[in-house]
Amino acid sequence: MSLLHRLGIATPIVQAGMGGGISRHELAAAVSEAGGLGTIAVGGGAEIERELAAARALTDRPIAVNLLLPFARRSWFEAAATADVVVTFWGKPVRRSGGMWIHQCGSVAEARAAHVAGTDAVIVQGVEAGGHVRGSLPALELLDRIGAALPPDYPLLLAGGIAERADVQTALEAGASAAVAGTRFLLSEQSRAHPEYKQRLLEAEDTLLTELFGLGWPAPHRVVPNAATERWLAGNSRVPALNRMLNRLLAPGVRFTPTAIQRRLVLAQRPESRLLTPLAATDDGPPNLLNAGPLYAGQTISRIAQIRPAADIVADLAP
Ligand SMILES: Cc1cc2nc3c(=O)[nH]c(=O)nc-3n(C[C@H](O)[C@H](O)[C@H](O)COP(=O)(O)O)c2cc1C
Repeated sequence: MSLLHRLGIATPIVQAGMGGGISRHELAAAVSEAGGLGTIAVGGGAEIERELAAARALTDRPIAVNLLLPFARRSWFEAAATADVVVTFWGKPVRRSGGMWIHQCGSVAEARAAHVAGTDAVIVQGVEAGGHVRGSLPALELLDRIGAALPPDYPLLLAGGIAERADVQTALEAGASAAVAGTRFLLSEQSRAHPEYKQRLLEAEDTLLTELFGLGWPAPHRVVPNAATERWLAGNSRVPALNRMLNRLLAPGVRFTPTAIQRRLVLAQRPESRLLTPLAATDDGPPNLLNAGPLYAGQTISRIAQIRPAADIVADLAP
């Protein structure tokens, strides 16, 4: 049976989970209702449950939940297990429930490990991608390599560089079963990114791959420049050694710091702070993150000119 059939969707378009609450029920439901697969990305068992219920009230089409493995706890997995699909990212893939499971990968080795662990498909993430970036190769090149390493009928989805119908067509012709877009859907009416964050992306031309916003999660991510990147990255994307060292040392502790303390850390964050969290600016979050937090975006921003309804984006991308 084809992947689309198993997912229960008509259009080979998947909206990427965008963490910290950028993709919640409004966006996921709008994408699914338009024939693609929408993905909720929030942290916490109760939050996942609430967002899923709200999405179910808007559509009876399939909904995915995204889990970031470095942070996901048992209650998150339990809540996510009631979604139609669970999409995991970043770390060792291990099956935690019986439903449909997709893992996002950045290398052949990781795709092999996901396949062995029993994933139903993998998302091949290219270096063009926005947000946290797992791999170092362009998406189509990695798709080729992973395709050659896994059984021919094993479904691969492609993420990174998807902003227009031609990108989707190229991905499908190269062997992908579906295309995954994050940044294009961030710039939709339904995404919960702060309005000024969306505006900055529309105006930006270039992105940086850096580890600057690494407190609690020292890993590469793609962002557009802002006051914090200008303060700390002297014209390139290399993070000062002391910042990097602190991020690495503090990572295990920060992950298990109570939410109330994390919230205070985030509120105090300024562009000149040496410790910068990975939390991005949402429409209901602290606005200091516009200048002091990450403006995650993929290389496609130079080709995206408008904030549009999510359903129109699905229709525009559909091959
Ligand atoms: C704002 C933003 C947040 C993201 N957060 C997550 C996340 O929480 N979990 C995840 O699996 N991927 C996350 N990603 C990466 C996406 O899954 C996907 O690989 C990426 O969006 C594809 O590149 P594109 O943004 O150019 O379409 C994020 C991407 C963006 C732009």
